[in-house]
Amino acid sequence: MCGIVGYVGDPAIQSGALDIGLDALARMEYRGYDSAGIAVVRPGELEVEKKAGKLANLLETIETDGRDRFAGATCIGHTRWATHGRPNDTNAHPHVSFDGKAAIVHNGIIENFAELRAEIEAAGIELASETDSEVAAHLVALAYNAGPTAGDFEASALSVLRRLEGAFTLLFTHVDEPGTIVAGRRSTPLIVGVGDNEMFLGSDVAGFIAHTRQAVELGQDNVVVITKDAYRVMDFDGTPAEGRPFTIDWDLEAAEKGGFDSFMMKEIYEQPAAVRDTLAGHFVDGRVILDEQRLSDDDLRQVEKVFVVACGSAYHSGLLAKYAIEHWVRLPVEIEVASEFRYRDPVLDRQTLVVAVSQSGETADTLEAVRHAKSQGARVLAVCNTNGSQIPRESDAVLYTHAGPEIGVASTKAFLAQVAANYIVGLALAQARGTKYPDEIESIVDQLEEIPAKIEKVLELKDQVHELAEELGPIPTMLFLGRHVGYPVALEGALKLKELAYIHAEGFPAGELKHGPIALIEEGLPVVVVVPSPQGREILHSKIVTNIQEIRARGARTIVIAEEGDEAVKPYANALLEIPASGTLLQPLLSTVPLQFLSAEIARQCGNTDIDKPRNLAKSVTVE
Ligand code: F6R
Repeated sequence: MCGIVGYVGDPAIQSGALDIGLDALARMEYRGYDSAGIAVVRPGELEVEKKAGKLANLLETIETDGRDRFAGATCIGHTRWATHGRPNDTNAHPHVSFDGKAAIVHNGIIENFAELRAEIEAAGIELASETDSEVAAHLVALAYNAGPTAGDFEASALSVLRRLEGAFTLLFTHVDEPGTIVAGRRSTPLIVGVGDNEMFLGSDVAGFIAHTRQAVELGQDNVVVITKDAYRVMDFDGTPAEGRPFTIDWDLEAAEKGGFDSFMMKEIYEQPAAVRDTLAGHFVDGRVILDEQRLSDDDLRQVEKVFVVACGSAYHSGLLAKYAIEHWVRLPVEIEVASEFRYRDPVLDRQTLVVAVSQSGETADTLEAVRHAKSQGARVLAVCNTNGSQIPRESDAVLYTHAGPEIGVASTKAFLAQVAANYIVGLALAQARGTKYPDEIESIVDQLEEIPAKIEKVLELKDQVHELAEELGPIPTMLFLGRHVGYPVALEGALKLKELAYIHAEGFPAGELKHGPIALIEEGLPVVVVVPSPQGREILHSKIVTNIQEIRARGARTIVIAEEGDEAVKPYANALLEIPASGTLLQPLLSTVPLQFLSAEIARQCGNTDIDKPRNLAKSVTVE
């Protein structure tokens, strides 16, 4: 939620900051695209441009004005997902201080902004925007201009950080120190990129991976001061602290479209690798192992109840975890939308294992659920795709998904990787508690390891789905039905269609339809049905075949996803998308894929040409 970039380079290369800053913003745009802005700093001067809408609007303005205006070796930039104040030019970042000398960019929420705003107004300063962020620009200038920190930019920035409540990453610049950026973070991300004679800041490494792989992760309530050849880490009081240096293990190509017309399409095709890489290394010498296993087998044996907390697609992966863990481990599993979890006062204790699933590791709702669970004594295991992000840092143990960077806002490969990782958690619990024999676990592992090759086969359905979307033409609504693990898949299919094509869509358990929603069925209404394997629980399969007949009888146009060779469904399918056989619990790793294609294709039919950035959304949601 909001992307932040910062750069300090060699003053001899005067055009460097603008080019690098804009390129970084392009890579950060998935985090928010309500507006974008950049401030270039040079001795005694600040050049700021900011525009509502996507980054393209900012680029156009800069090209029209001429790039020469932006000479300078230091810049800060921002892509916004609006929280306080509408997405317009004025509310866009960077915000500039009343004296025109300091500029800031901010990600997060300053909770005590009303009080700070009143104080600034009382000093006779008129605020330009409706944002919570602008206060930081005025406060740093006030602190620099007079009082105990006068003339000391670093100390002034620190004094502002100490006064803020909430979650924030803030970058400060000042015309009196054009070769320095001071940045602080609390509960939102900030990574330093260490270059050769240049230094970078980013909400994530995508902002600077084109220039360096050497990065430093900052701890909670840490500040970093960067110049072109050094970085210093400290806390908000100025006491030296340590960052955690690491080497970025994915390359630029992973953050590029690689010949696809959208990141989402590329990421759909990366799913075999995402699942393969997520499974890799977890089954060694017949044993299941978790990544940062700070939970011992003893801990896992003491678990009496599992809660899965997550949001959106990650929540759907959690629903699947419930089916798998209850079946393999015979432990009760509750799954809760993270934003509801702590407000419901769930019953948690030391014997509760909370599994927090998050691609970004930043989602505020999930993070707060983790904090609540920990405060109640529960143990927390994070399933996360982003190394070193806040949720794994605050959890007792971590299982990383290895989907690589997911740039498309709608989750695809990260979702499948989450499903795979959740199943590893289930198997680790089954192993520690002895609810499955080693050979049974091995057999499930073998089936899981066959999944990437089967996803490759499902990817061949792309053209068929394209034709299907064309035949469907404009549709006002669409329903998705499933039973058992097909139900979370139906929910995921409906979510993808809503977010990409802006079409109303609902997912239902197929058996629930007759209790009300069947009233929605009318002539020609497209209904997707996810059919369980006929080889698995026969009862599930035959029930859903009956459900298909019920909706067909009422005029529905059925789009059926079923296993190859499932003859029973054929007479009732207006369109049939066949996937390889996989066994009941693992089928979602395959049946989700055609639904991703379907939503993308229908989105294009509906005129959404930028499926990577659906309206109103952002990739990582760092506000509650
Ligand atoms: C949907 C989607 C979102 C995310 C949700 C959680 O396509 O991407 O629903 O799944 O916002 O995000 P993470 O996993 O980062 O916590």
